[in-house]
Amino acid sequence: MCGIVGYVGIQSASETLLEGLRHLEYRGYDSAGIATVWEGELHCVRAKGKLNNLREKLERIEMPARIGIGHTRWATHGKPEECNAHPHRDQTNRVAVVQNGIIENYRELKQELQAKGYTFVSETDTEVIPHLITNLLDQMQSANELVDYTSPLTEAVRRTVNRLEGAFAIAVICKEYPDELVVARQQAPLVIGLAGGEYFCASDVPAILPYTNTVVKLENGEMATLTPLGVAISSFAGDRIIKYPHVLKGNRMTADKQGFRHYMLKEIHEQPDVVRDCLSTYLSSQSKGSPIALGLPDDLFTDLQQVQILACGTSWHASLVGKYLIEQLASLPTTVHYASEYRYAPSPLLPQTLMIGVTQSGETADTLAALEMEHKRRTQRSTEFRPRLLGITNRPESTLAQLVPHLIVTPAGIEMGVAATKTFTAQLMAFYILALDLAARRQTLTPERMEEIVVGLRHIPTQIEQVLYQQSTVIEELSHRFQETQDFIFLGRGINFPIALEGALKLKEISYIHAEGYPAGEMKHGPIALLDAKVPVLTIATPGAVYDKVLSNAQEAKARDAQLIGVAPQDEQTAELFDVLLPIPKVEEILSPILTLLPLQMLAYHIAATRGLDVDQPRNLAKSVTVE
Ligand code: M6R
Repeated sequence: MCGIVGYVGIQSASETLLEGLRHLEYRGYDSAGIATVWEGELHCVRAKGKLNNLREKLERIEMPARIGIGHTRWATHGKPEECNAHPHRDQTNRVAVVQNGIIENYRELKQELQAKGYTFVSETDTEVIPHLITNLLDQMQSANELVDYTSPLTEAVRRTVNRLEGAFAIAVICKEYPDELVVARQQAPLVIGLAGGEYFCASDVPAILPYTNTVVKLENGEMATLTPLGVAISSFAGDRIIKYPHVLKGNRMTADKQGFRHYMLKEIHEQPDVVRDCLSTYLSSQSKGSPIALGLPDDLFTDLQQVQILACGTSWHASLVGKYLIEQLASLPTTVHYASEYRYAPSPLLPQTLMIGVTQSGETADTLAALEMEHKRRTQRSTEFRPRLLGITNRPESTLAQLVPHLIVTPAGIEMGVAATKTFTAQLMAFYILALDLAARRQTLTPERMEEIVVGLRHIPTQIEQVLYQQSTVIEELSHRFQETQDFIFLGRGINFPIALEGALKLKEISYIHAEGYPAGEMKHGPIALLDAKVPVLTIATPGAVYDKVLSNAQEAKARDAQLIGVAPQDEQTAELFDVLLPIPKVEEILSPILTLLPLQMLAYHIAATRGLDVDQPRNLAKSVTVE
């Protein structure tokens, strides 16, 4: 995904755009650029790499413009080179465009434009857009076409977007219309910010929040023209649309590191409060009746026979924990699919199924497409197959929120680090409460057992604080030992197997060390051959059904000279077995994942930081993947 921003108003556009891009850099950081209109000319500055490179270039240039657009890129079409950086312009330097998303029919459009004499200088799909707009402006001007209800630029953009196929959000400026910023949205997020005499647009609210919290969200098929005098919204068909702004409520929507070296570290330390917020959002404060306050309607659950979950990456790991909880607490068969796989090999349809899409960003293309497909498949069948869709997301304003009728919002606040940490924890909390809700409805737990689990959950925030407090320095020191390590194994079992997977993913994505998460009992069926003194094996062991078995699996690794790290409660056995023990409080196994996760997050963080890597913006990644 990429980030787009736009500004028209009374301040310096380049500074406002740079500040906006700083808050969107989590969406991509292969290159960045801005374009402004000043004294009838278009000025465009772009730089390969992170935003700082662009900032340095801009320091040497005077840019007093009051209107402009900006972009931070995660490369899809074309390498991360300056020539492919946005904004893209037509060959006469008249129109500049930034885009997020993919134009699927760009090849046909490019051929058509090339045949008309337009030359292309980038490998991107975006470049067709400024050429199309300029071509349409020319056509309208030479035909002396009068557009009585709108500006020629708006009309040219409208005609252009009607020719584009795919998912996109765009922002356009043109040197002949120096006070107009035209934006359009189709399947990619775009929000408009309003602050007396100044108007903003951006892919995400953090870019706008430093200036205003009054926003209007564009829906698919909508476009808007922003001028210093206001915002006019219309449909791609040309119909005027009246929308009312709303005021965003403040929460941890801050893009500030608050004294931490990296966002990821700050976000790890926010987890006690995130769990507190989840508890107060999802649990009722009433002493009588059900403790669950998810507010989901009964008919979502009537005669339910199974749950199917679709997700990617870390959200997929959270869903595996969710499967464990739903099956063990509510006795409901549950499957978890990679959305990217499910799209092309869906399961045969079974009736009375609750489909859950889990995506922190609410924008992951595969998850959205798989859910849409499922909705379509089920709508075409009889009533018992009717789609029952539920989303779990951290972004209530996301595309997912528009796609599904029911939502559990995780109140984690915006996550800036590319590696998911606090949002994973919030997803786990959502699954605990959903599983309890299902258990209550299906009467699979006694009220006493429900209460026991709820009380256990209420203790989690202080237990997280305890682990963070006790282990931060220990793990930081330990990280030096592993900075040259090439392979890591993470073992877990039962509800902690997904945590082993998540620990391995965290290490891979930010430290670039090869890591594998494995179910502890499966080690002996192959991976044990990898072990020697150079391979650390981190084993998660919590008292419960498989505690002794996991400790035996760790023992087997030790016998092959592996360096053993244990994430387990401290007792004689664990102190003796593990070379390094990262102790966690003794809690019931079913409640342990949020605690066992913490040392893994911190270890990944400190190893990456010790290796001097860019923890918050690891290579080749972006916060969410809005392309297939
Ligand atoms: O926004 P989503 O939860 O749908 O994102 C899914 C994955 O792209 C995401 O979890 C990714 O794996 C993270 N970088 C993990 O830290």
